[in-house]
Amino acid sequence: MLAFHIDQELCIQCGECVRDCPYSVIELRGDVPVIAHGREEKCIRCQHCLAVCPTGALSILGKDPVNSVALAGNLPTAAQMETLIKGRRSVRWYEPEPIAADVIAHLLDVVAHGPTGINNRRVLFTVIEDQETMRTLRQETMTGIRRAVEEKRLPAGLEFYEQLLGAWDAGRDIIFRDAPHLLAVSAPQGGPSPEQDTVIALAYFELLACSAGLGTLWDGLAKWALTAILPDMPAKLGIPEHHLLGYMMLFGKPAVRYHRTVQRGEPRVNRVRW
Ligand SMILES: Cc1cc2nc3c(=O)[nH]c(=O)nc-3n(C[C@H](O)[C@H](O)[C@H](O)COP(=O)(O)O)c2cc1C
Repeated sequence: MLAFHIDQELCIQCGECVRDCPYSVIELRGDVPVIAHGREEKCIRCQHCLAVCPTGALSILGKDPVNSVALAGNLPTAAQMETLIKGRRSVRWYEPEPIAADVIAHLLDVVAHGPTGINNRRVLFTVIEDQETMRTLRQETMTGIRRAVEEKRLPAGLEFYEQLLGAWDAGRDIIFRDAPHLLAVSAPQGGPSPEQDTVIALAYFELLACSAGLGTLWDGLAKWALTAILPDMPAKLGIPEHHLLGYMMLFGKPAVRYHRTVQRGEPRVNRVRW
């Protein structure tokens, strides 16, 4: 059931909902938008109809348009977005105190609005919130790496983890950067784009976290450690076996402050003109 409802007092019969529906699920009957006969199952639940309605007359899936955020006047400017993108940094120094669970929950709720290859095929956010779990993860990871080093079974190409272990023994946590939180994003294998979906979610998370004053670090070192060296770890973290673990990201309150953007060179662009 799509719970499709039109407030006829608000509807101006503009037909935008009909035009924008990517699967022609809506049609005008008389002057009133309705679900076209036999098309209900084609709905991908994208809610474009709710979003495009200029008067907030359309409700679908039980969503009241009043509970959506109006876009006019509320979007960041292009200049603000530019500063966010150029000013975001990989943060490798963190304050020890954790981020409040409700703040993390809110960030994830927002990030869950990102696109996925199949609408409604939602990614899974695996997050470590509490410090005891983070400590245990660090310890178990380093113990596992130590064992792999001793048994000479570090995977080819990952021999450098022996040096990371040395750094750990000397008091430097190169893999987890003493961050208070870890976010891993996974998605069911077999969908059209699990890898892209997870990376998009993390990219959105990174920018949103940065805008909220938090620091993040894409953590390839953790991902390799927790997949290639310790292949049992994703299951221990509760990531379903049939999921592709896209990537991992550290986050927390930064203990470093950047004062200006960096200056990258010209982008590499291949302009095609036939
Ligand atoms: C996919 C990916 C994996 C990364 N893995 C690590 C990592 O394991 N450790 C680390 O310190 N930085 C990691 N980084 C951060 C990059 O080194 C960083 O983006 C680069 O140095 C540029 O710095 P910036 O992000 O501050 O612009 C990773 C970045 C990406 C995109």
